[in-house]
Amino acid sequence: MITHSFRETLDGGLEKTGQVVPMIPTFVFGWPSGDELGDYLAIDLGGTNLRVCLVNLQGKGKFEVTQSKYRLSEEQKQDDGQKLFDFCAESLKTFIDSNSGEGGLIQVSPGQKLPLGFTFSYPCKQDRIDHGVLIRWTKGFGAANTEGEDVAAMFQKSLEKFELPVTLTALINDTTGTLIASRYVNPTTKIACIFGTGCNAAYMEHIKDIPKIKDLGLPDNVDMAINCEWGAFDSFEHEHLPRSKYDVIIDEASNKPGEQAFEKLISGRYLGEIMRLVICELIDDGILFLGQNTYKVEVANALDTALLSLMESDPTDELLMIIGIFSHFFALETTLAERQFLRAIARLIGRRAARLSACGIGALVGKMGYLEDGCAVGCDGSLYNKYPGFAGRIHEGLIDIFGEKASNIRTHHAEDGSGVGSAIIAAMTKARKDAGL
Ligand code: BG6
Ligand code: GLC
Repeated sequence: MITHSFRETLDGGLEKTGQVVPMIPTFVFGWPSGDELGDYLAIDLGGTNLRVCLVNLQGKGKFEVTQSKYRLSEEQKQDDGQKLFDFCAESLKTFIDSNSGEGGLIQVSPGQKLPLGFTFSYPCKQDRIDHGVLIRWTKGFGAANTEGEDVAAMFQKSLEKFELPVTLTALINDTTGTLIASRYVNPTTKIACIFGTGCNAAYMEHIKDIPKIKDLGLPDNVDMAINCEWGAFDSFEHEHLPRSKYDVIIDEASNKPGEQAFEKLISGRYLGEIMRLVICELIDDGILFLGQNTYKVEVANALDTALLSLMESDPTDELLMIIGIFSHFFALETTLAERQFLRAIARLIGRRAARLSACGIGALVGKMGYLEDGCAVGCDGSLYNKYPGFAGRIHEGLIDIFGEKASNIRTHHAEDGSGVGSAIIAAMTKARKDAGL
């Protein structure tokens, strides 16, 4: 039922603008050839980290990446938007300065501008590749004066402030980058997903099947990547997804109640908090941690999703990892029965997230008719890469949806999708411009 209503929602988003799942046309036209070449700078503003990369595309699906990574603070996520873009530009300047000079990887002659791809992983309405109006922040971001603004223009302003020798060539979503990068190395790729701080997917659609852009007069025989923004599935109405009371609490306590309903059941930003709410309820009911001071675990967001992965992967009979986690982070002693229970809860939460993810993939596969011939789904994000068994559980879900044929759908880790993807898209954009398109 979920897969079915998901599919209808995806179609609805292609039909009309302003839908809850916006199915955003990205102005990335068609697949890469695999022969894209050259050096490109990429900056990747995700939900947790800022990455700055130099990508060397070598053709034949090969590339090399040099990168620096910076963790974003909670203050930066809520402060003024222009300051956030200034931080991005400043980090890019530090990266260029430390990689240029004699023998450095980056060489810029006077007056030269390097092409830069900006991976900005939030929903943006685009009407060309180097521009995008932020529809709304997701993943707990709330930086002021940014929603409704052209974030490419804001970032350009910051680039000028720091006098950087770069031209912003493309603004892309992490899913779009991952789609294109996965296809560069694996020609059977048709879908890309991010399972990390947020959750989303992109795929390649035939322009003739995107009714809402028919007025643009684009040729019918061309394809365009769509950033689904499927994390918003079932937002506001909550008609299709079964939510527990813990999900409702998380939603109401978030900075965007009602929004990103699907994402709030799946992504890394929320899974730890779901488990913590279960624990707190059982403490209040006098079932867990009797006679102990539980104040540390009662602090909102005190249980990181990474700890659920550790609990699930504990190989010992005594569940020593869980002893360590609860004593180190929460000053709590646990009985073996409590530890077994905690692990079982972690499993339920992780398994539900993966199976719901399978519904999204199933909806896209069904809609596009990919089941018979099969396809690869490039996936990235901390949940997919680090949560034990996440990929296997997605596959279990796909078997429940499609039966045996589910083995035609293979998810795989997309290596550095966003960085490489934005470089390839910058190369594709330049090739289109050179060809006068
Ligand atoms: C990274 C990609 O690997 O995964 C980012 O480079 C993406 O673009 C990120 O946003 C998602 O994962 P997380 O866990 O950092 O949200
Ligand atoms: C959120 C963002 C989306 C992004 C996803 C994964 O859902 O809205 O743009 O792709 O997180 O990072």
